[in-house]
Amino acid sequence: MKWNDSGIAEFRENGYRLIRGLLDETEVEGLRAGVPDLLQGKDEEDGMHREREKGGAVRQVFLGHRHHPTYKALIRNPKILEPVQQLINNDTYIFHSKLNVKEAFEGTVWLWHQDYGYWMWDGIGPNLMSAMVIIDKATPNNGCVMVVAGSHKRGRIEHEADTVTTSYKQWCIPPDDLKAVIREEDIIHITGEPGDVLFFDCNLIHGSGHNMSPLPRNTFIAVYNNIDNKPKPVENPRPDWVVAHRFDVVK
Ligand code: SIN
Ligand code: MN
Repeated sequence: MKWNDSGIAEFRENGYRLIRGLLDETEVEGLRAGVPDLLQGKDEEDGMHREREKGGAVRQVFLGHRHHPTYKALIRNPKILEPVQQLINNDTYIFHSKLNVKEAFEGTVWLWHQDYGYWMWDGIGPNLMSAMVIIDKATPNNGCVMVVAGSHKRGRIEHEADTVTTSYKQWCIPPDDLKAVIREEDIIHITGEPGDVLFFDCNLIHGSGHNMSPLPRNTFIAVYNNIDNKPKPVENPRPDWVVAHRFDVVK
């Protein structure tokens, strides 16, 4: 399940690597079957945390990897875990996980950002990365993720909080700064099929548009942090559902 040198080099060069068909049909079916459990549960009862769109549709479900058997297994799947360990070059724990939901016609934008643009404030170094599993076909119409190839090489850019665009406070790169860092020709649409997995660096600039399609767009993102990169104390620590307060090595 390990990547060869050219796979690693591609990730280091572009800041991401998309592996088509990494998960097989049975694995994808299991993930799909779990989606309603993640969407429909009640926070107080099942331990997961949900964020909603202004209209009430679920936008994100955190902590599936702790509470749902299929998602518990997913973060340990060697097809994902082994390359993550190679790239991070150490044991890892889950910083957080989320089912990112974009209901048909309702799912809203993720403004351009680097994950480490705001995770820095959680008291950690840039030693973490994400694996995003595509659960529903992802197209430009349903708001597939877009990345800016090679943008991780700039290092972290200052972010600002946007509290007006969506129901959820988003940290983003201010629009004036974006003009200097994103060229149209460097924007890549991560379109794909269920079972494709995108691995990406915490400084890669990415975002996504509104779901303008009748197709839902569900993806599951697991964020793996180097076990030696535990958060240092900060003034306003975020809750355990988004910045894990436990550090179980994933194995
Ligand atoms: C993210 O940056 O966490 C989400 C992007 C997306 O799901 O479109
Ligand atoms: Mn992100």
